[in-house]
Amino acid sequence: MKICMIGVGYVGLVSGACFADLGNSVWCVDKDEGKIETLNNNQVPFFEPGLEELVVKNYNSGRLKFTNNLSLAVKNSDIIFICVGTPTRRDSRSADLQYVFKVASQLSKLINKFKIIITKSTVPVGTGDKIEKIISKKKKKKYFEVVSNPEFLREGEAIRDFRFPDRIVVGTKNKKVKKKLEVLYQPLIKKGANFFATNRRGAELIKYASNAFLATKISFINEIANLCEKTGINVEDVSLGIGLDKRIGGRFLRVGPSYGGSCFPKDTRALTVTGDEYKTDLSIVKSVIKSNDKRRLVLTQRVKKILSNKLKGKLITFLGVTFKPNTDDMRQSSSLKMIPFLVKSGAKVFYYDPSGKKKEFDKLKNVFYCDDIASSCQNTDLVILHTDWEEFKALDFKKLSKRKKFKIYDLRNIYSVETMKKNGFKYYSIGR
Ligand code: UDX
Repeated sequence: MKICMIGVGYVGLVSGACFADLGNSVWCVDKDEGKIETLNNNQVPFFEPGLEELVVKNYNSGRLKFTNNLSLAVKNSDIIFICVGTPTRRDSRSADLQYVFKVASQLSKLINKFKIIITKSTVPVGTGDKIEKIISKKKKKKYFEVVSNPEFLREGEAIRDFRFPDRIVVGTKNKKVKKKLEVLYQPLIKKGANFFATNRRGAELIKYASNAFLATKISFINEIANLCEKTGINVEDVSLGIGLDKRIGGRFLRVGPSYGGSCFPKDTRALTVTGDEYKTDLSIVKSVIKSNDKRRLVLTQRVKKILSNKLKGKLITFLGVTFKPNTDDMRQSSSLKMIPFLVKSGAKVFYYDPSGKKKEFDKLKNVFYCDDIASSCQNTDLVILHTDWEEFKALDFKKLSKRKKFKIYDLRNIYSVETMKKNGFKYYSIGR
């Protein structure tokens, strides 16, 4: 099929490369000339495992093309995915839809024959209706159908998530369009993905409800972990014990720092705005947001306690600062709150992250980037295992720091309490 992806950010580029890999002809278009030039030079502007190889392979085969020319890409496509950003508005908690609406208005002038216009960007309930209204100003309804088809890709595992999704959600009442999308997704359906069609507003809400529900699971287990720490119970046992109930399910019950990234924090907030707009109190989602915000404080207080309330002059190492492994993304990472707090309290922070130095800490006094694990830990008083990158999973703690009494705070429960104790390490973790 002939496809156009508008926006070569995370969603657009991953989906575009994967659609091309399924044999479709894909035009990826973006107004950012630098990004398109980078892609035409066989480079990917952000970090995602396996993506560069996939882009290069499909670019060389001629199935994947990059351009700044929206008109060219639209005219050569039957299915158009809108994948532009929907960041949180600076003045509120809601999603900023200016880029989506701008694209809709451009499309209204460019459509030359029937097009399926799909929002893949995460957009609040009713956005599809607004897009339809914008395009209808210039084009008759028979020339287009606006559909919602949200993405559920996780950073760091996006290609796998695209290829083996649990479900594909499509929001449209148009039977012909639904059939066409079923054909587009046939290779994935054949491998076991559920194809679920509903109306457009339903699909839009499914995306927000999914993310809010997953965020709820994480916050729930993190709060249970707080209780476990006070009652001498191992939270891992609780996760397993409740997760074995199929009605609950074991996934997304891993304890950790506050959840971060570009989706959960943004989408939970935007969902409460929709709730407010429709005069519906989404009190559960609101308390999840509160609980997650509070978590950063809970953890920094714990760090203080581990260091006997003396942060002044202490050397603290962060292993990993990104919000999760296999990404260079810092958005809403708990390290962004924890590190400034610790240096303000008089500590010096050294950090190492496999995805490199972070500009977010450039202006902070007493925060230093190290090129490797060894130099970041050399004289440390406390190692904080913040992100569970693979290379942190088999550390030789005996040789890590010159300070004999250094401590380890494992925010991802990577190591076993028993083994660490047996080896005489001062080891702290979450909920156990
Ligand atoms: C999420 C959704 O999973 C995906 O479906 C959606 O399309 C985009 O948002 P992503 O933000 O890439 O994906 O990462 P995810 O793996 O979901 O993790 C989000 C945050 O939750 C991270 O900070 C992660 O560390 C945390 N998390 C996740 C936990 O603390 N415990 C868990 O069990 C799972």
